Amino acid sequence: MNAPTTKLAGPELINEIKRLKQERNAIILAHYYQAPAIQDLADYVGDSLELSKKAQATDAEVIVFCGVRFMAETAKILSPEKIVVLPDMDAGCSLEDSCPPDQFKAFREQHPDHIALTYINCSTEVKALSDIIVTSSSAEKILDQLPKDQKIIFGPDRHLGGYLARKTGRDMLLWPGVCIVHEAFSETELVKLKAQHPDAPIAAHPECPAHIVAHADYVGSTSGILQFAKDMPGDTLIVATEPHIIHQMEKAMPDKTFIGAPGADGNCNCNICPFMAMNTLEKLYLCLRDLTPQVHIEESLRLEAKKSLDRMLDLASGTVGQGDLGART
Ligand code: 13P
Ligand code: SF4
Repeated sequence: MNAPTTKLAGPELINEIKRLKQERNAIILAHYYQAPAIQDLADYVGDSLELSKKAQATDAEVIVFCGVRFMAETAKILSPEKIVVLPDMDAGCSLEDSCPPDQFKAFREQHPDHIALTYINCSTEVKALSDIIVTSSSAEKILDQLPKDQKIIFGPDRHLGGYLARKTGRDMLLWPGVCIVHEAFSETELVKLKAQHPDAPIAAHPECPAHIVAHADYVGSTSGILQFAKDMPGDTLIVATEPHIIHQMEKAMPDKTFIGAPGADGNCNCNICPFMAMNTLEKLYLCLRDLTPQVHIEESLRLEAKKSLDRMLDLASGTVGQGDLGART
């Protein structure tokens, strides 16, 4: 079957998206890594934690999730009564791909005395096998609330896990997954860039490998990096995360200069997330028009996955007592 298409383009396409959004009583949520034209049409642009909270709180009937599949699935887990559509259902994530549920289950079974603290960048099945989900903006706060002697498996991002282990002094068993986008920054090129802009701080996402994070003046989630850009006294920032976030920075701070950290070829093109880039304006229009592709999750799986997500939301807002933090039984 041929994929649906549209002849609409330019302002006509944008106007139709806006009209359909009203007609459908839809909200468009977009991650910072989406193309600027999509960010500009969104009702809300945010990091993974903020987007999960928005998905949970909205009273719209349709959530159009402009991000990757695990984000849209998270929205559906938290808001099962809503229609959740994703412009391209093939928009996956290398971290999710690195962690097949059967292998994760076997790993857990080898370490029965460990709890599984799991990055939100994973499948619904892996969420259902986990005790607590974290995002990059909530991980440290959540980790700090776990008893010091609690044994922990952290997956699937070994760079985020390694960063948290170094920062908090925790000894965690790390699943060996990586983000192919953050993995692609070049230390050699970053050092050269820094030499050209010695006064510019470097802000890095914790999905970056340790040799990149080691050069950073600030390490944090996409929203954290955006906030650092606002707060920093200087006028130039080197940004070591997916470069589409620079769109929000330039909108909010037109007088500052933002330079994407380079990949091995000396520019940042290899750091564009190929999964996020699958969503286009045309596909956004089509999914609003046809209400497909929709996220569907089997109810018992959804309820299991929701437990670990609810723990994240409670711990991120500080509403869980120590007694509630045991492993899934
Ligand atoms: P945050 O937006 O939570 O920092 O996560 C980034 C990410 O992994 C998106 O893929
Ligand atoms: Fe996954 Fe990395 Fe793309 Fe985020 S940037 S969706 S972690 S591949």
